[in-house]
Amino acid sequence: MSGPASGVWAILVAAGRGERFGLDQPKAFAKLGDDPLLAEPLRRLDESDWIDRIVIVAPPEWEEPSILLAEELACSKVHSCVTGGATRSDSVRAGLAEVAADALVVLVHDAARPLVSDDVIGRVLAPLSEGWDGAVPGLRVSDTLKRVGDDGAVLDTVARDGLYAVQTPQAFLADVLRRAADGGEATDCAGLVEAAGGRVKGVEGDPRLLKVTTADDLAKIAEWL
Ligand code: CTP
Ligand code: MG
Repeated sequence: MSGPASGVWAILVAAGRGERFGLDQPKAFAKLGDDPLLAEPLRRLDESDWIDRIVIVAPPEWEEPSILLAEELACSKVHSCVTGGATRSDSVRAGLAEVAADALVVLVHDAARPLVSDDVIGRVLAPLSEGWDGAVPGLRVSDTLKRVGDDGAVLDTVARDGLYAVQTPQAFLADVLRRAADGGEATDCAGLVEAAGGRVKGVEGDPRLLKVTTADDLAKIAEWL
């Protein structure tokens, strides 16, 4: 399934257990319509003109079903499928190890956000040719934010100005992400790059990039298909 190296590589991280979803199989294999959840983002990345190669990061013991799914969908850009790690950052590192040395850009996407679009991919790639190290899509936070203590007591109200809820896909210059991901933990890749001093731009996200955390999320996304 591999081919010659080229510019934009996508790492599709699907290796989480989906504890909060609560199935006895990984969340990436929960059903969205007739197919496993993983099928939707995989097909969309494969069809995107922005993307040259795809690395799938699968849950342990789900590598084979992931490869079979890519074959069933006739994906032509899947370079490899590797086993994920204990944390999301570990899974990203496992994917990065597969990315060709001469790749220019790495786009990291959560399989749990199935409705990735060409528009948002274009928006996160654009800043990389304008001097930015990376770009992330986000939605302005509209609710009032409060910090609540362990005992349930409201401690304070957090100023909302400039706050965004950040999504994936996130795009980075390949070398920057490689250096930043060499050790360290963060809940997203931008966190790794920020900690390494990289300049990351926030761009407009998409409400349809809702992350599947619970069965209700999956039902909502199924209605949007
Ligand atoms: N992920 C991963 N490897 C991990 C943890 C998460 O590849 N060790 C991926 C998930 O598969 C998902 C994305 O990172 O596509 C975002 O993670 P999240 O929504 O938290 O998924 P899970 O970790 O599977 O869910 P939970 O936290 O409820 O267990
Ligand atoms: Mg998780």
